[in-house]
Amino acid sequence: MSFLLFGAEPNGGKGDPAYTKDGKLIFPADYRTWTFVTSGVGMTYGPTGTKDAEGNPRFDNVFVNPEAYKEFLKTGTWPDKTQLVLEVRGSESKASINKDGHFQTKTIAVEVHVKDTSKKGWGFYGFPPGTAAAEMIPKTQNCYSCHEQNGAVDTTFVQFYPTLQDVAQEKGTWKAAH
Ligand code: HEC
Repeated sequence: MSFLLFGAEPNGGKGDPAYTKDGKLIFPADYRTWTFVTSGVGMTYGPTGTKDAEGNPRFDNVFVNPEAYKEFLKTGTWPDKTQLVLEVRGSESKASINKDGHFQTKTIAVEVHVKDTSKKGWGFYGFPPGTAAAEMIPKTQNCYSCHEQNGAVDTTFVQFYPTLQDVAQEKGTWKAAH
């Protein structure tokens, strides 16, 4: 399945989710050409450590397929077939000319959050490096409960997405208490 990882666009470039015959989500290999939403550094909302052995924080970068981003700007929420990608990367500090601060290094994991009515709404998928297709993470996992309880808009963390906060507030899709 390596052709899926290197250059092919299984969804025809539209950013719609594509699935294998047995229902696995095909890795959206072109997500780096999608719309950039935000970066977080050293965020500590999860139970697992966010630093490596040398104390370097992890970065996360969030991307979304451009069609869904444009629709959010109009409506304040995500349309069917939205794919949000969380890319987790390591970091380093002392290299080349850099003296302080951190820059991003290699990808540790990619997680995808897909809104698909044909799959009964939102689903999460995990892609450790080299994974071509992934099964939906079971609904009993804490991904779902944390996102449902704490995500400001439609189970997503728009409270941390600086270009989308005002849109959601204006359109009235912002959940109170976030
Ligand atoms: C304790 C709360 C919590 C849990 C549990 C959690 N997340 Fe998240 N998730 C977050 C936060 C906070 C962000 C925002 C990250 C940022 O701002 O950079 C986020 C963002 C995301 C995004 C980006 C799109 C979005 O929905 O906003 C994806 C994809 C994602 N998480 C996948 C997962 C997966 C897969 C799991 C389970 C394996 C999981 N998350 C478990 C809190 C959580």
